[in-house]
Amino acid sequence: MKAIVPAAGLGTRFLPATKEQPKEMLPVVGKPVIQYVVEEAVAGGVSDVLVVTGRGKRAIEDHFDRSVELEDLLERSGNIEKLRQIRNIPDLANVFYVRQGRPRGLGHAVLCGAPHTLDQPFFVMLGDVIVPKGDCLPKLAEIHEKYGASVLAVEPVEQQFVSRYGVIAGHEVEPGVWKVTDLVEKPPVNEAPSNLAIFGRYLLTPKVMEILPHIDAGRGDEIQLTDALKELLKHEDIYAVTMDCPGYDTGNILSWIETNVAFALESEEYGAQLRESLTKMLG
Ligand code: G1P
Repeated sequence: MKAIVPAAGLGTRFLPATKEQPKEMLPVVGKPVIQYVVEEAVAGGVSDVLVVTGRGKRAIEDHFDRSVELEDLLERSGNIEKLRQIRNIPDLANVFYVRQGRPRGLGHAVLCGAPHTLDQPFFVMLGDVIVPKGDCLPKLAEIHEKYGASVLAVEPVEQQFVSRYGVIAGHEVEPGVWKVTDLVEKPPVNEAPSNLAIFGRYLLTPKVMEILPHIDAGRGDEIQLTDALKELLKHEDIYAVTMDCPGYDTGNILSWIETNVAFALESEEYGAQLRESLTKMLG
C-alpha cells in the first residue's frame, strides 16, 4: 500500500521558526517529526511514501537523502552509533516527492498524489501528527478489509477543542468502530455533531480522488479533505475507528512542546533528569 504524507503547509502557527524551514522538520527529542511519520509508515507495511512538498521544503528531501560529508566526518571521528543512525535514514523507505505549487488546503495536497496512487486504496498520514505505537495503520487496514470502505482514525477530544479538528457523526457498529453519517471541518463548539475528532491517519478508497477536483474551498478558504469525504459519503460508506494508543498533534506550539515533554519523559536518556528539572520548576 502507498501513503501520501501532506507536508506543504506554510507552518504559520510556528512563525518565525518556520519562516525558512519546514514545520515537519521541527524536532521531537532530536528527530524531525516527519521521520517519525515515515518510520510509522514503514512499520505499517507501506511500500512507497509520497511526500507532498512545496517551496521552502527542500530540507525534507535532503533529510531522506545521503549526507556524504557528515558521514565521512562521523566515520573519521569514530562516532559509529551516530553514523549508523544517519546512514539508516535514506534506507528507511522509498520516498517520493510531488510539489504543491500553491498551498490550497489538505484536500488539494492529497489530490496532488492522485497520479501516484492510481486506482488503489491509500493511506493519508498527516506530516505533523505522530502516532508512537505502530498499531494505527494495521487497524485501519483491518477495518478496511472487513467493511470494504474508507476508514478514518478518530480520537475523542474534550468538547472545547472540537473546533480544531474535522469531526464525525456516526453510530457505533462494534466497540470503537463507527459507521460515519456526517463530517464537519472545524465546527464551532456548539455545532459539533460529536467529540470524535479526525486524527491525522486515513485509509481512503480511490473514489475520493475523483471527487476532490470538484470540491470548492471551504473552511479557511482551503480545499478541505473533510468536505471531499462528506461528498464521498453520498457514494460509499465510510467508517471511523478509535486508536488504542493516542496520537500527538505537533501542529501548534503548545502541542509540540507537550509532545516533546511526553517523549522526553519516556526516553532513557533524558527521562529521569527531565522529571527532576520539571519537579524543581513546578515546585
Ligand atoms: C487537519 C484536518 C482536520 C484534522 C486535523 C488533524 O487540520 O483538516 O480534519 O482533524 O488535520 O490533525 P489542520 O490541523 O491541518 O488544520
